[in-house]
Amino acid sequence: MSGHEHRGRTFTYRLGSSQNSTKKLSPSSPPKSSMAVELRSNLSWTMLRKKKSIASIHYSFRLDLFLLLFLLSIPRSISELNTMQGFCAVASDSDCSSSFTKILIKGGTVVNAHHKEVADVYIEDGIIVSVRPNIKVGDEVKIVDATGKYVMPGGIDPHTHLEMEFMGTVMIDDFFTGQAAALAGGTTMHIDFIIPVNGSLSAGFDSYIKKAKNAVMDYGFHMAITKWDEEVAKDMELMVKENGINSFKFFMAYKGALMVNDELLMQGLVKCKSLGALAMVHAENGDAIAEGQKRMIDLGITGPEGHSLSRPPVLEGEATARAIRLASFVNTPLYVVHVMSIDAMEEIAVARKAGQRVIGEPVVSGLVLDESWLWDPDFTTAAKYVMSPPIRKAEHGKALQAALTTGTLQLVGTDHCAWNSTQKALGIDDFRKIPNGVNGIEERMHLVWDTMVESGKISVTDYVRITSTECARIFNIYPRKGAILEGSDADIIILNPNATFKITAASHHSRSDTNVFEGMTGKGKVEVTISGGRVVWENNKLNIMPGSGRYIRMPPYGYLFDGIDKADAAYLASLHAPVHRTKAAA
Ligand code: URP
Ligand code: ZN
Ligand code: ZN
Repeated sequence: MSGHEHRGRTFTYRLGSSQNSTKKLSPSSPPKSSMAVELRSNLSWTMLRKKKSIASIHYSFRLDLFLLLFLLSIPRSISELNTMQGFCAVASDSDCSSSFTKILIKGGTVVNAHHKEVADVYIEDGIIVSVRPNIKVGDEVKIVDATGKYVMPGGIDPHTHLEMEFMGTVMIDDFFTGQAAALAGGTTMHIDFIIPVNGSLSAGFDSYIKKAKNAVMDYGFHMAITKWDEEVAKDMELMVKENGINSFKFFMAYKGALMVNDELLMQGLVKCKSLGALAMVHAENGDAIAEGQKRMIDLGITGPEGHSLSRPPVLEGEATARAIRLASFVNTPLYVVHVMSIDAMEEIAVARKAGQRVIGEPVVSGLVLDESWLWDPDFTTAAKYVMSPPIRKAEHGKALQAALTTGTLQLVGTDHCAWNSTQKALGIDDFRKIPNGVNGIEERMHLVWDTMVESGKISVTDYVRITSTECARIFNIYPRKGAILEGSDADIIILNPNATFKITAASHHSRSDTNVFEGMTGKGKVEVTISGGRVVWENNKLNIMPGSGRYIRMPPYGYLFDGIDKADAAYLASLHAPVHRTKAAA
């Protein structure tokens, strides 16, 4: 065991067995430039491809600048992670670098959401250049043999919380360790939730851009709305038009902290619609939960099981139904995050059947775990499963899996919000003080493969859809992300369906000393992860560069908004109002 400093506290974490020494940065493996990032953010996806050569003229100057900035900002976590299992934070020598900018993935089955075929994939400078059989290349190209394996778009996790301040403490994974974990598990992009600072969206945005300075893979942001006034309304516009955010989350739970009331939710829905931004909800009835918590405490139930008992599925179903009806009243699309129960899922099913645009996102913990852990006699074990909405009885997870198969639910997230056991112990005498959240960013791709594909519940193409493509489509970054197509970003995984994985806290890359999936094994292993055109995970080793991750701007008016104006026009026409009445004679 070893400890490290984290914002003035000492947390304890378990180290992996192998110890790699710190390596120097290789100049031959630069990250994507900040200039290129800026160019990308201001231009359309296809235009940017043309601008790439212009950006490269300035490349060597930017590289020097990058090296300087990098040396000034080497995080505590690099040396920490170099001591972790199979990890190499900065690269220079052959066993700890893979700086090829030209890669050929040979002979695999390339899977997109719409199609799969045996083909080669040729990558240059972070972009997929060609996808077809028998591509011939020169000696300078790194060849990766994928025969008998699946070559798929890297996972996109729509729901994470890195370095989030919550319930009096700070989530244990930052953008460096959380993303290292993601890459080791085959996820190459995630969308994190910005929590405003004292209600200010701009201050929240600035703070998260700083938090992400050591990012090792691409990321985007959703923004939470926690209060309402003119400044928030104006800032929402700024976030969408200037800062590349196209989704806002409203917490209907966490009374006294993040929770919003129906009035605020209505205002938020109207504003979201006017901006072409997607409204997201954490759907639980916060007022009723406060009552449920009081009931448990009065009954003398203070342990982790009280968390589950105080917020039953009916409260998730009620809030989901309420949010859906309010979104229908406004005629704006709605995204329900972490759908954990049959109750919530059925509300989504009914609304979708009626033609409403509602997206439902289950998370991997809700799909594969059950609530029985919360009754474990050992507090540390039970507390690690506390998240909201709670992990339910096994029948809920099975129903959520089936809903993914049929398309009632559309994509899988993680809600990765990891704490260590010291932090969870804040609630040793009162379940209301246990920091809510579980891990999943490293485990999602493996567990969804094993649970859904290996078991025959969905096809390989549907796997790509629910772990990557649908997220890219919803948040309007497809086909740059979520596809293996010519011109797409080279974010790719190679999964061996015949290899096995095993999940343990001792071998994972999160800083947490626990893992809610501890001991789980299954078939289908991500053997290679390519992020931004670099091999970052191979032979169970990470090879990543702090600061190489890019902020991905997401434009408004994604596909969920197509036709909304026509429906509005039809609604207005249906009113037959105002009625022009003649004044009654005197
Ligand atoms: O328990 C959870 N889900 N923690 C993260 C915050 C949230 O509600 O998404
Ligand atoms: Zn939530
Ligand atoms: Zn969350």
